[in-house]
Amino acid sequence: MSDSQPTWVPFLFRYSTRQIKFAPGAALELGDVAAARDARSAVLVTDAFFTGSEALARIVQALEKKRVATTVHAVPNHEPDTESVAACRGVLQAVQPELIAALGGGSTMDTAKVARILLSNPGDVAHMASFDRYFAPHDSLFVCIPTTAGTASEVSEMAVISKAGSDIKLRYRSQNMSAAIAILDPELLVSMPPQVTAHTGFDAFTHAFESYTSRLASPVTDPLARASLHRILEWLPIAYDEPDNLIARGECLIGSTLAGVVFNSTQLGLAHAISAPLGAMNRVIHGLGNALALPAVTAFNELELGDKHEALCAMLGTERVADGVARLRARLGLDQGLDDFVEGEKHAAIADAALKSGNITTNPRLPEHRDMMAILQAMRVPLKDESPHDRLRQAYAAG
Ligand SMILES: [Fe+2]
Repeated sequence: MSDSQPTWVPFLFRYSTRQIKFAPGAALELGDVAAARDARSAVLVTDAFFTGSEALARIVQALEKKRVATTVHAVPNHEPDTESVAACRGVLQAVQPELIAALGGGSTMDTAKVARILLSNPGDVAHMASFDRYFAPHDSLFVCIPTTAGTASEVSEMAVISKAGSDIKLRYRSQNMSAAIAILDPELLVSMPPQVTAHTGFDAFTHAFESYTSRLASPVTDPLARASLHRILEWLPIAYDEPDNLIARGECLIGSTLAGVVFNSTQLGLAHAISAPLGAMNRVIHGLGNALALPAVTAFNELELGDKHEALCAMLGTERVADGVARLRARLGLDQGLDDFVEGEKHAAIADAALKSGNITTNPRLPEHRDMMAILQAMRVPLKDESPHDRLRQAYAAG
């Protein structure tokens, strides 16, 4: 028997997607996927701006070649809300398809996820929102085909929907809600503009980063989170500079999906706890909200990262983790200040909302209200060449 005994920390790893298919052009395999299941009818749920696109026409053609009657339903181009879900559910109820496929960003995938699971769990869209409710499975085959590398909704067991006409975010979670098959096709991402690449890519980076440092990280999630971080750090700046670089798009897509596989089990951290109310109360784009928060949040967490500290410094190429996070943010044109989006008097309300987030409990260091106010203060203006640590220290001194 060895002298050195491992220190075990109990863990739970959860995962529900059955297959992840990756290849350039893989979206066209949707016809084969339908045929393998002997599906004769399909609803393709897609972003409104995708309608009329050549990519969509080719996917519909691939389904029809296999004699799958296909209905296309377009989700409006705004944050998914209870009305988008109700409209999608209406189409699914009318068609009763054997295959439901979501082609789009996180909004479209989340809309399809919730609309589909409500077919086997009747009830009001808003009243059914829950992280703990049992959702009975639905018979249809559910496939997600992401067109961004950010939300990882294609493998996540969660969906977030706004309550129409309000700031309220409704959260759903079930292993029966996830896609059975995720199809990753980097060709769908090559036309994404640099700013969207930066926003969605920084969201994916924050997923990988906060999963890796989460209190629920485990021997199963750590290698996947590291693989995700390595890919995103190497290839996201290239995808940002060269939108047509298929290799960079593919590596970022794999990195984003890996982070989603991980955060089902680990949850996220304080940057996501802050970006959620920034999005709900101030309409700050989700990935940008994470970019505004992560350097200051990392400076706050830095001393609690344990043996992950050295690993992260090696990956980032800096002596302090927060400096590496700030450098990536600047490299992607995201060194911006909170003052451009939120008035100072709203900080207390954002701090209160963030402290109620489930992602606080998995953050490496538990913040109090005073800490939240200092972090928000440190986020107010771009860092330029300043260190996030110095900025946070000044914020505490000023507060
Ligand atoms: Fe996110």
